[in-house]
Amino acid sequence: MAYGHGKVILFGEHSVVHGRPALALAVERGAEVTLVPGQPSLTTLHIEPWGVDVDTGGDVNVGREPLQQALKVARGFYQDDREFALHATMRLPSGAGMGSSAALGVAVLRALDDARGLVSSGELIYERSLAWERVFHGNPSGVDNAMATYGGMAMFTKGQPLTRVVPRHPVSLVVAYSGSSSSTKIMVDSVARQFEKEPERVGKVFDAIAAIVNNGKLALETGDLTSLGQLMTMNHKLLSGMMLSTDPLEEMIETAMAAGALGAKVTGAGGGGCMVALVDSPEHQSAVKAALVKLGKTVYDVESGS
Ligand code: MEV
Repeated sequence: MAYGHGKVILFGEHSVVHGRPALALAVERGAEVTLVPGQPSLTTLHIEPWGVDVDTGGDVNVGREPLQQALKVARGFYQDDREFALHATMRLPSGAGMGSSAALGVAVLRALDDARGLVSSGELIYERSLAWERVFHGNPSGVDNAMATYGGMAMFTKGQPLTRVVPRHPVSLVVAYSGSSSSTKIMVDSVARQFEKEPERVGKVFDAIAAIVNNGKLALETGDLTSLGQLMTMNHKLLSGMMLSTDPLEEMIETAMAAGALGAKVTGAGGGGCMVALVDSPEHQSAVKAALVKLGKTVYDVESGS
């Protein structure tokens, strides 16, 4: 079975597209891809639970064009005439800020390797999955692909090697899905337009987020959960100033804070998708989860290693 991790961005989404750092954590939920026995005449991909099928044939998979194109990109990395049927199981919501497309790309690429008895380096899988991701998002920073490929917790800056982050204590998070998805491409384009219109002001916002990322790393390394929570809330305010939050996300964040979270923010592209809240005890984790479930939200527990 080939695997790609999902991820949660703790700090720095969007500004990471513009060269600032981001700090993210891979989650055990991800994409799993297995090979279906047989000798198909095309490379095919079936995805559960989405019930989606695409293939590398000449006929357009109507309504699935980007995914079909991404599969063709992945298939194109192999200069042979061998075709395989792939079955993917997604354990992440799509368009929700948890890196589902990068996780799928990494798992598909590893499965195409496995099928041929190859084991590519992490670097090659990362580079190739970035080409996969570009089909969907035009200008990905690479943070989702790095986390999907390498796992763990790390600081990522475009074009630089990943810096591992080792928290002093394991960090407990509650991630909850607002119920509406968003397009990363649309959200990234909207921030790029704001930056183009007001480079000085928006550039300062990116710099402020970069300072939060660096302080967040320190807070993790020293085990200062109170500061970590405050930094998450600050990062959220800067993101919502760029119109990346929504009413349901705001309600979820308020609910999480009222139930004892130390900090909370939108995670990923925003405009829908997920929020992440930091908690300091199993009691608070249960209370925050229960409050969000009462709002009708789907909730995921996330624990970092230390
Ligand atoms: C999406 O998970 C994170 C963004 O920063 C886009 C990217 O980094 O490519 C919004």
